[in-house]
Amino acid sequence: MAVEHAGCFEMEEKMARKKIIAGNWKMNKTPSEAVALVEELKDLVKNDEVAVVYCVPAIDIVPVVEAVKGTNVEVGAENMYFEESGAYTGEISAAMLVDAGVKYVILGHSERRDYFKEDDCLLNKKVKKAFEAGLTPILCCGESLEQRELGVTMDWIRLQIKSDLSGITADQVKAMVIAYEPIWAIGTGKTATADQAQEVCKGIRDCIAEMYDAATADAVRIQYGGSMNAGNAAELLSKPDIDGGLIGGASLKPDFGKIVNA
Ligand code: PGA
Repeated sequence: MAVEHAGCFEMEEKMARKKIIAGNWKMNKTPSEAVALVEELKDLVKNDEVAVVYCVPAIDIVPVVEAVKGTNVEVGAENMYFEESGAYTGEISAAMLVDAGVKYVILGHSERRDYFKEDDCLLNKKVKKAFEAGLTPILCCGESLEQRELGVTMDWIRLQIKSDLSGITADQVKAMVIAYEPIWAIGTGKTATADQAQEVCKGIRDCIAEMYDAATADAVRIQYGGSMNAGNAAELLSKPDIDGGLIGGASLKPDFGKIVNA
């Protein structure tokens, strides 16, 4: 009986978390191509039960915010800097994003961590700044193939989560999104199996429960990302701890509509 109740409770909590499907366009699409893509996907991504977000290159933000007006799509950035303003050539502030109409910001994508040497100390500052400005962070974490083979996946991810969320309150965590993206699955066509993805997403939720409490863990939305496509989305999204997807390659194609409606 107690077990049955626990199951019902899980179902209710799961249903309470609105799914979020976000496209990560990466360094693709010029401003005019971006507007054309928004137009192409407009009818395909209609779904009021799911939050739909396009995280786009900085230069595409203004035209894409304009192009999604009147649709169910919200706009995110792919990165930002933590300082308020000043001599940081090439960087973009949280306030600039907010003023342009951006709601979400991807932080700590493995490509930023790897190619641009972003570490957890920097990411913690960015997460804090995003909240201060009123942006919803989509904080990425994930292990390399080597780490998975060494059996340290969860140790590594727990380290990332604990460092990146240092000083972040329970209420802030309840409002944010965490994206689990195994590095070996990004852009490789190699998706984690639904069970592998579920296991780590559950591990992230357990980590949040330990750091905060059960209510915070139940509220935080956890996405899977890494070669998610129209063919595998439904199975991944059916798992109890997977609340959405962060989608790279397939977000630039009509397939994205199929994922939103999976
Ligand atoms: P992919 O990228 O879907 O092309 O694997 C996912 C991501 O990097 O967010």
